[in-house]
Amino acid sequence: APIKVTKICCIGAGYVGGPTCAVIALKCPHITVTIVDLNQARVDAWNSPDFALPIYEPGLVDVVKQARGRNLFFSTDVDKGIREADLIFVSVNTPTKKSGVGAGFAADLNYVESATRRIAAVATSSKIVVEKSTVPCRTAESMRTILEANSKAGTHFDILSNPEFLAEGTAIVDLFSPDRVLIGSLQTPEGKSASQSLSDVYNNWVPKERILSVGLWSSELSKLAANAMLAQRISSINALSAICEATGANIDEVAHAIGFDSRIGPKFLRASVGFGGSCFQKDILNLVYLSESLHLPQVAAYWRQVVEMNEYQKSRFSKTVVDTLFNTITGKHIAVLGFAFKADTGDTRESASISLIRDFLSERAYVTIYDPQVEEAQIWLDLSEACPTLTLEAIKKQVNIVHSAVEACKQKEAVVIATEWKEFREIDWQTVYDDMSKPAFVFDGRLLVDAEKLRSIGFKVTTIGRGERL
Ligand code: UDX
Ligand code: UDX
Ligand code: ADP
Repeated sequence: APIKVTKICCIGAGYVGGPTCAVIALKCPHITVTIVDLNQARVDAWNSPDFALPIYEPGLVDVVKQARGRNLFFSTDVDKGIREADLIFVSVNTPTKKSGVGAGFAADLNYVESATRRIAAVATSSKIVVEKSTVPCRTAESMRTILEANSKAGTHFDILSNPEFLAEGTAIVDLFSPDRVLIGSLQTPEGKSASQSLSDVYNNWVPKERILSVGLWSSELSKLAANAMLAQRISSINALSAICEATGANIDEVAHAIGFDSRIGPKFLRASVGFGGSCFQKDILNLVYLSESLHLPQVAAYWRQVVEMNEYQKSRFSKTVVDTLFNTITGKHIAVLGFAFKADTGDTRESASISLIRDFLSERAYVTIYDPQVEEAQIWLDLSEACPTLTLEAIKKQVNIVHSAVEACKQKEAVVIATEWKEFREIDWQTVYDDMSKPAFVFDGRLLVDAEKLRSIGFKVTTIGRGERL
C-alpha cells in the first residue's frame, strides 16, 4: 500500500518552494513541513517575528501566520530535514547556464545535483524524492541514477516529477485552487504507489479529478510545454500589436474579438512591453536546447522565435520612446514606473523594465525609477548586470530611485509605464501633468491608463498596439 506521508521536507525556500510548502502545511495540519535552505538570511526572513518574509506575495503572510510554529518550520539544517522526512521536494534554483556547453540555453543543474547528492549522503531510510523545480526532460532519471549509486543498504528512493504551475502575484490563489496538479512517476508498481502517496497529500484540498498522474517524462515535458505555449500567446499578441500600431487597428479590440472564440479563450492576451519572469524565457530556451540535442532544428527554430519576438517587442518600445521624443533622449529625463516583471510581485528576473532602462542609459538619458515592491539594492544589482560596460558609480549618475510615482514624474519629459501595478492607474495625473516639462509624454507599455482622459489633460500619449498617435 502507498505510504502515508507525515513528514515533508522542502529543499529550497524560494519563490516556488516557500509558498507551495507553506500552503501544504496550512491545508494538511497532520503533516509536519520543514522548509530548508542554505541561505541563512533567507531562512531568518521566513522566521522573522514580524513576518518580514523574503518574498512579496499577496496572502502569503496570512498562510505563514497560521501554520508557522504549528506544523510549518524553516531551517538551515538541511541534513536534519532530509533525515526526518518521508517525502522530499527538491525546489532549488535552475538558472540558465552562463558558461560551458549549452551556455545561454541549457539549465544549470548544479543546484539540483548537489541537493540530490546531499539526500543520498544523509538519508538513513527510504524516501520519496519529488522534483519540483522546472528542469529539462530526463532530469528525474539523472536524480535516480545519483540516488541509487549512492544510497545505503536498506534505503530505497522513488522519484516523482511534480511541476509547479503557480504564477507569481497570484501564487496563493493558484495553490488554493489549482487548475491541475501534475504528478509524473515511473509506471512501475513502486512508482505508482509513490505517486498515490503524493496524490493523497494534495487530495486534502484539491479534488481528485484535478490531480493528473502521468509518466515521468510527460510530466517534465508538460511543464516546459505549458510555459512555452503561454509565452507563445504573448508573443503572438505582441506581434499583432506591431501590426495594429502600423495600421490604426486597436490591439484591445482585436484581443477581445479573438478571445471570444472558445477555442482561443480570453485569458493571457494582453499586449505588453514584453514578457519577463524567471520561467518563460528560461523554459523556452530549454526546449530549444532539447530540440537541438534531439536533432530537430525546425522545432528549435519555431520556439526560438517566441523569445526573439519578445526581444523585438522590448527594443521596439524603446525605439518608439526615442523616436517620439524628437529622435533623441540624450540628456533628457525619463520616469520609469515599475521595475518588477509583473504586478503584485517584487521579483525582477528578466523584467522588461531592465531592458528598457538599459536602452535609455545607452542613449545617455537620465532615468528615475519607482516600483512599489522592488528593493533598491535589487535595482542596482540588475542594472549593473544589464550594463556591463558601466560602473555602478556611472549608473548612479544617470539613475535615481524614488518612493512614489508622483515624485518620479516630477519635472520629467516623459513617463514610461513598464509594470501594470494597479496604483499607476490611480495616479493623480493632473498633478503629474502640472509638474512635468512640456510637452509631457506618457508611454503606456501595459495598456493600463485611460489614454483619452490623459489626452484631455494635455498629455501626449503613446500606447502599445494602438495606431492613433499622441
Ligand atoms: C508563469 C506561468 O504563468 C506559471 O504557470 C508558471 O508556473 C511560471 O511561469 P509567472 O512568470 O509568475 O508565471 O507570471 P505570468 O503571469 O505567467 O506572467 C509572465 C509574464 O508575461 C509577465 O511579465 C507578464 O506581465 C507577461 N504577460 C502575461 C503579458 O505580457 N500579457 C499577458 O496577457 C499575460
Ligand atoms: C477554420 C476555422 O476554424 C474557422 O473558424 C474559419 O472560419 C475557417 O478556418 P476549417 O478550416 O473549416 O475552419 O476547419 P478547422 O476545424 O479549423 O480545421 C483546420 C485544420 O486544422 C484541419 O485540417 C484540421 O484537421 C486541423 N486541426 C484542427 C488539427 O490538426 N488539430 C486540431 O486540434 C484542430
Ligand atoms: P525558485 O523561483 O525556483 O523558487 P529561488 O532562487 O527563489 O528559485 O529559490 C531557490 C532556493 O534554493 C534559494 O533560496 C537557494 O538558496 C536554495 N538552494 C539552492 N541549492 C540548495 C541546496 N543544495 N540546499 C538547500 N537550498 C538550496
